[in-house]
Amino acid sequence: MSIYGEYEGTLQRIMEDIEGRLFAYQERVKSETNENAYEYILARIKTDESMREKCRRKGLPETAESALSKLTDAIGIRVICSFVDDVFNIVEYIRSFDDCEIIEEKDYIRHAKPNGYRSYHMILGVHTSESDVMGNTPGTFYVELQIRTIAMDTWAALEHRMKYKKDIPNQELLVGELKRVADELASCDLSMQTIRELINS
Ligand code: GTP
Ligand code: MG
Repeated sequence: MSIYGEYEGTLQRIMEDIEGRLFAYQERVKSETNENAYEYILARIKTDESMREKCRRKGLPETAESALSKLTDAIGIRVICSFVDDVFNIVEYIRSFDDCEIIEEKDYIRHAKPNGYRSYHMILGVHTSESDVMGNTPGTFYVELQIRTIAMDTWAALEHRMKYKKDIPNQELLVGELKRVADELASCDLSMQTIRELINS
């Protein structure tokens, strides 16, 4: 039995619902501007194994209640954009969902993490007619969104690999290099944005 128990189907439906709204937004922006709103979306339900591992790491019992009410990233959606402005436009679009509340928002773009990590994070509480793990009907299910540019995404993947490979020589040197590269990428992202504006004006 998966840690999500009887809620697996609901999780899948909520994920597809939010994805579907983003697909519709893409179509609308494309038809209005002839440009993409974003490049692609990655959506996943955290695997049973990694959700159990996260519960243990956080000192929570391995139950559906922990996974769906204490933790908020059972459903994860990543939106990858070409330009920084697209990221903020998507944030505004998500803010307009009237059946969702924004539980948490972290702007690691305007406020990059000390290691250079950049991305816009939102945790949504999606209200649905289906029952949730706390016994509420209508219920609330959480969705973690990460919205970032291609450059931010490439950087995060590289930095993630380094974090999980502890035995690399010159670790401190690499940390410094990653930070430097993150700042250069951010500068390129801004230049790309400016060039696009000049082309479109
Ligand atoms: P979790 O305990 O992992 O949920 O972190 P948190 O509650 O402090 O939330 P935060 O918004 O900071 O991070 C959530 C997710 O963002 C992580 O699981 C990663 O996928 C991503 N993330 C955050 N910081 C970093 C970072 O420094 N490097 C990389 N590669 N990813 C990061
Ligand atoms: Mg988190």
